Amino acid sequence: MSTAVEVTHPIKLTERINRIEPSATMAVVAEADKLRGQGIDVVDFGAGEPHFATPAHVKEAAIAAIQANFSKYTAVAGTAELRDAIVHRHAVDFDSDCRREECIASVGGKHALFNAISVLVDHGDEVILPVPYWVSFKDMVRYAGGNCVLLESDEAQGFRVTADMVARLVTPRTKLIILNSPSNPSGAVMSPEDMTAVLQLAHRRGIWVISDECYVYLNYTGKRFSVGSLREYKDRMLVVGSLSKTYAMTGWRLGYTLAPAVIVGAMSKLQSQSTSNPTSIVQKAAVAALKGSQECVEQMRQEYINLRDHVVGGLRAIPGVRCTLPEGAFYAYPNVSEFFGRAGIQSASDVAGRLLREAHVATVPGEGFGTKDHIRISYATSIAELDRGLERMRKFFGAL
Ligand SMILES: Cc1ncc(COP(=O)(O)O)c(C=O)c1O
Repeated sequence: MSTAVEVTHPIKLTERINRIEPSATMAVVAEADKLRGQGIDVVDFGAGEPHFATPAHVKEAAIAAIQANFSKYTAVAGTAELRDAIVHRHAVDFDSDCRREECIASVGGKHALFNAISVLVDHGDEVILPVPYWVSFKDMVRYAGGNCVLLESDEAQGFRVTADMVARLVTPRTKLIILNSPSNPSGAVMSPEDMTAVLQLAHRRGIWVISDECYVYLNYTGKRFSVGSLREYKDRMLVVGSLSKTYAMTGWRLGYTLAPAVIVGAMSKLQSQSTSNPTSIVQKAAVAALKGSQECVEQMRQEYINLRDHVVGGLRAIPGVRCTLPEGAFYAYPNVSEFFGRAGIQSASDVAGRLLREAHVATVPGEGFGTKDHIRISYATSIAELDRGLERMRKFFGAL
C-alpha cells in the first residue's frame, strides 16, 4: 500500500509586495459590510465617498457612448477630447496653462498617483509627507522603494502645513514633496501663500511636488486654489485630480495628472504596459462632467458645508471628544484620546473597533493616517444619518 506524499511549496511573495499594507479604509468597509450581511444596521461614517448620485447628464453621456458603440481601446493617455476637456476645465477654474501633451487620464486619482510616484521615486529617495496623510501615499512610496519623511502637523493649528515646516525637512536626498490640500483625513487647507512658498523652494532645489487635488473643489475657506496657477514653477509640479468626489463618480474611476510632458510620457509608458486607457465609456461621461454645467459641483459643496457644521457641532457636544474645524473635503477628524485607559481602550483602533462592534458605527482609526489619537468620520451622508450615528456615539462614549 502506497501512501501519498504531500509536497508543499512555500508561497514566496516579492519583497516589494510585503513592504505594503492593505488600505485601512478598505478594511473598515469590508468589516462594516460583513456586519451588514448579518442583518445588523450599521451607520457608515467609514467610506470616503459622496452620498450624492452621479449627475444625470453624466450618466446620459455614458449611456449614449454605449449606444454609439464607443467601446474600443482609446489612446493610452485618454482621448484627445478628454485631455482637452481636462486642461480646459483646469485652466478656467484655476488659471493653469497646460497643453494636451501635459495631461494624462488614468483609472482614478489613485492610479494617477501610483503611476506618478512610480516614475519619480527610486530606491533610497526621500519623500516629504505631511501627517496625517491619506492612507495610500505611504504605501505607494514604499512600493516604489522610497523612504517617507513624515512632517508632523499641529492639531492646535488645525493640522495646517506651512512652507517653513516643509523646508525644515529638506535634505540632499529629498526627491518629492506630497501635498494634499484640502486634506484627507484632517480637512486642513494650506494657504495659497504656503503652497506658493513650497513650490518656490522645490523649484530652487530641484525637488518634485505632487499636489493631490482630489478635494480641490471642496474647499470651504472661500479661497479655492490650485498650484496649477503658479505657471512659473510648472517644470517641477504634478497636479493630480479626480472626478470621484467633484462629480460624485467614485465608482467610475477617472483621474488625471497635469505635469511636464516628459513625466506624462513616462506615466503613459507605464500605463501602456499595465492598464492601458481608462474605460472608453467613462471617458465620454467625464467629458460631459467637465464640459457641462458646473452647478452640481457648487450645490454639493454647499451641502457639505451644512453637513460639516452639523457633524462638528454634534461631535463637540460629546464630553471628552475634541474636534478641529475641517476647512475642506468631507471628513471630521476628532481626537478621542480622552477615552484611552477607560474600559480597556488603549488606542484609536480600539475606539473604532468597539464603535463598530458595540455601537454599529463605522469609522476609520487614525493609525492608518499616521496619528494615534483620532478617528476619521466621513460626513458625506444625510443629516438624518449623521444624527443616528452621533446619537449612538454619544451613548457609547457616555458609557465609558
Ligand atoms: C486624498 C485622496 N487622493 C486620492 C484619492 C483617490 O480617489 P480616486 O482614485 O477615487 O480618484 C482619494 C480617495 O479617497 C483621496 O482621498
